[in-house]
Amino acid sequence: MPERFLWGKPSLSYNARVPTVTLTASGKRFDAAAGETVLEAAQRAGIALPYSCRGGVCGSCKATLVDGECDYPRNPPVALAGVPPSRHAILLCQAVPRGDIAIQAREIASVEDIPHRRVETEVAERRALAPDVVGVWLRPRDGSRVNWLPGQYLDVVLEDGKHRPFSIASGPRPDGLIELHVRHVPGGGFTTWVYDSLRVGDRLTIEVPLGTFVPREDSERPMLFMAGGTGFAPVKAIVEHFIALGTRRPMHVYWGARNKADLYLLDLATRWSEDVPNVHFTPVLSDPEAARAAGMREGLVHEALLQDHPDLSGFDFYMSGPPAMIAAGRQYLIDAKLPEDRLYFDSFDVAPDVLTEILQGRAGIHGL
Ligand SMILES: Cc1cc2nc3c(=O)[nH]c(=O)nc-3n(C[C@H](O)[C@H](O)[C@H](O)COP(=O)(O)OP(=O)(O)OC[C@H]3O[C@@H](n4cnc5c(N)ncnc54)[C@H](O)[C@@H]3O)c2cc1C
Ligand code: FES
Repeated sequence: MPERFLWGKPSLSYNARVPTVTLTASGKRFDAAAGETVLEAAQRAGIALPYSCRGGVCGSCKATLVDGECDYPRNPPVALAGVPPSRHAILLCQAVPRGDIAIQAREIASVEDIPHRRVETEVAERRALAPDVVGVWLRPRDGSRVNWLPGQYLDVVLEDGKHRPFSIASGPRPDGLIELHVRHVPGGGFTTWVYDSLRVGDRLTIEVPLGTFVPREDSERPMLFMAGGTGFAPVKAIVEHFIALGTRRPMHVYWGARNKADLYLLDLATRWSEDVPNVHFTPVLSDPEAARAAGMREGLVHEALLQDHPDLSGFDFYMSGPPAMIAAGRQYLIDAKLPEDRLYFDSFDVAPDVLTEILQGRAGIHGL
């Protein structure tokens, strides 16, 4: 039997017939090993498909199944609730092909060339940014340079092997430091440790880079950004990238929080809008009294944005923040005529292992 290569990668085996995944847009094909999700198989083949939570709840990995069938042996496909079966939607982070399949999915070529690696780091700086947000700056211990695209995230690898995802708050910097904005989650193991105990010199193992929330430069459209809380971290990275590029595309950044103290880099965002003619910044506070005291917009961040931009059909849209904001925002944005393929987002869900525990507790193992 002649050796068979699938889009530059050798097939897994000549004898054992493993499912092949075909991407209908580009014609690329790759094999999926037994039990592997479509996303894992694509990543192994060096193909970047969209994802964020990796737990089946955020919907950023949604794609269309054109041919074949998939199973969901891990988490139930929560993000497909309410999607009519006639849409043939699947979640790439959970779907395991039952045989050969063909899918229509967005490919994000810009992240494909950056190697994913494990890096030993130490804390170079730690600073309180807000009452419940800590800024952490990591330095690779071997002095190597870590590469990523603005907006991507990393996984902190805990001693028990579990992972905790955090967005990187800038693009790669000349001093090699990796900046994180960590919100303390009540009852959360890692973030409580960061909040209470993390010190300069402490060591952290990370895996980097991850995620597909990255600048889309192949567009001339104006951009809207919507951040909630520490969702500002990847938005900051992407906005700084576009400012450094000298883009003339209009950029309007909305940042929502409960009160002014939670807008932990207010001065920076205000400076963007003062110094860069095509950047606008609107802070939005959900606490009415705090909004009045600060003279800022009051309400939920997506409401303020939609008041200013009721028709989103001409925009590229970037959003990042707590799952509730992402879930509510998504629906309102699509209703305001934003084409779904121009909505880029990271949903700050809990880590995939915690999501699995929560979903299994809620729905019974593998049950919906
Ligand atoms: C792509 C991505 C990027 C992110 N970027 C950022 C960022 O830049 N900044 C940021 O602040 N956050 C970010 N997050 C969120 C961050 O990863 C989580 O807040 C973090 O993983 C929490 O870790 P923890 O160990 O402190 O909490 P965990 O111990 O994981 O607990 C989280 C919550 O779940 C509850 N919980 C835990 N186990 C169970 C269970 N079995 N059943 C029910 N409830 C349970 C806990 O009580 C707690 O409320 C990001 C998330 C994603 C997916
Ligand atoms: S639902 Fe698949 S990445 Fe979030």
